[in-house]
Amino acid sequence: MKQAFVTYRGDPIGTLAASDPARGLLNYDQIFVRDFIPVALYFLATGEPALVHRFLERCCQLQAKERSMDCYRPGAGLIPASFKVSDDGTRLVPDYGGQAIARIAPVDSSLWWLYLLRVYTRATGDRELAARTEFQEAIKRVLELCLIGRFDMYPTLLVPDGSFMVDRRLGVYGYPLEVQVLFYMALRSADELLGDCEESLPYREAVRDRLGKLIHYVRTYYWLDLAALNRIYRASTEEYGVAGSNAFNILPASIPDWLPDWLPEEGGYLVGNLGPSRMDFRFFSLGNLLAVISGLANKKQGEAILALVTAKADDLVADMPLKLCFPALEGQDWRTVTGSDPKNIPWSYHNGGSWPVLLWILAAAGLRYGQTALARSALENAAPRLQATQWPEYFDSRRGRLVGKEARLYQTWTIAGSLLADHLLAEPALMDAITFADNITAEDCTF
Ligand code: GLC
Repeated sequence: MKQAFVTYRGDPIGTLAASDPARGLLNYDQIFVRDFIPVALYFLATGEPALVHRFLERCCQLQAKERSMDCYRPGAGLIPASFKVSDDGTRLVPDYGGQAIARIAPVDSSLWWLYLLRVYTRATGDRELAARTEFQEAIKRVLELCLIGRFDMYPTLLVPDGSFMVDRRLGVYGYPLEVQVLFYMALRSADELLGDCEESLPYREAVRDRLGKLIHYVRTYYWLDLAALNRIYRASTEEYGVAGSNAFNILPASIPDWLPDWLPEEGGYLVGNLGPSRMDFRFFSLGNLLAVISGLANKKQGEAILALVTAKADDLVADMPLKLCFPALEGQDWRTVTGSDPKNIPWSYHNGGSWPVLLWILAAAGLRYGQTALARSALENAAPRLQATQWPEYFDSRRGRLVGKEARLYQTWTIAGSLLADHLLAEPALMDAITFADNITAEDCTF
């Protein structure tokens, strides 16, 4: 992990996404904001916050600051997906998505940044960094970007395809769960980090208002267990006005064949996406487990998610933790939804591939409710294979037995995710900084 450090003006400021000597690096030689999170948490957990401090500062500098009506410029508040040091070493070169494969917009970077700033502040007790004027301005810009009125009127964020860890076309446009959970975590972070001055007041109020609505909405409408599935199966459709119960006009015929007999008696999960007549029933690990860690899922739901992951460990954890999503899209669905993407063939990469970086997420989610057996055994099984296979980015096949077809080796977040999982399970002190208390009231609203 330390070999992946990127130095700028004499100091390390982040890590390369991968250091694979054999494969073309494309943009894997850049510092990705999302990839750096487990690295940052590991260094915070082990009492070495200086690198994290510098990373947070650099991201703050690179945030797009100007409001512009030019569609080819990043909107104010956006933090790049990745950045690198220029060849002559004199400046940082950000990529807001304009260079990325398929030109995808990184919605998650600003949200991860805000969350990391909170973890840093809580873990180190250093409140000076977040209180700096440029940081307070940066937090407000992120909030403006997310909270501004748009065409739709949901509390969730409407985003384009491929705008987070799944950074390719995979039918994750609209209201993907992972982005909603990160949005919640960013709002909770802003709630703690915004100063008390008068200019901050309207932001603080807007944050609280949105949090109450978002919490209620996700817990109510994204939640799926056997009881909820039964309701959807027999639901009335075509209801006009606010009296009906099928607000999104989810059509019973859209329930996929695999689901009814897969869903365990005990347990449940948050669906992958929700929009007009659209419920993406796939299970997305990162969104669900982050909902457990952050408390967006309430205690009952959080424990039910852990129960489902345990009951379905053969599918989700299998031989290499953890499936990014389940099940894979196959056949015509794969052709239509991915655009016949050869990197996202069934049970590979994002489309049902297994990502060892998620080990730390599994460990932290288990720790939230004192259930660590699954994470411990998953880590124990994975560690020797990860070392023997040189820390691949992801694994393929239903059980995760093949090193990913296009996977980079020495993928930094694979290394960091395993180290962090191991550290958290042995020494969970950082959990206090990682989680949020379940103390904000969900606000029911007419819908
Ligand atoms: C791939 C992954 C993305 C990650 C990037 C760098 O594009 O899909 O989530 O951030 O690689 O590792």
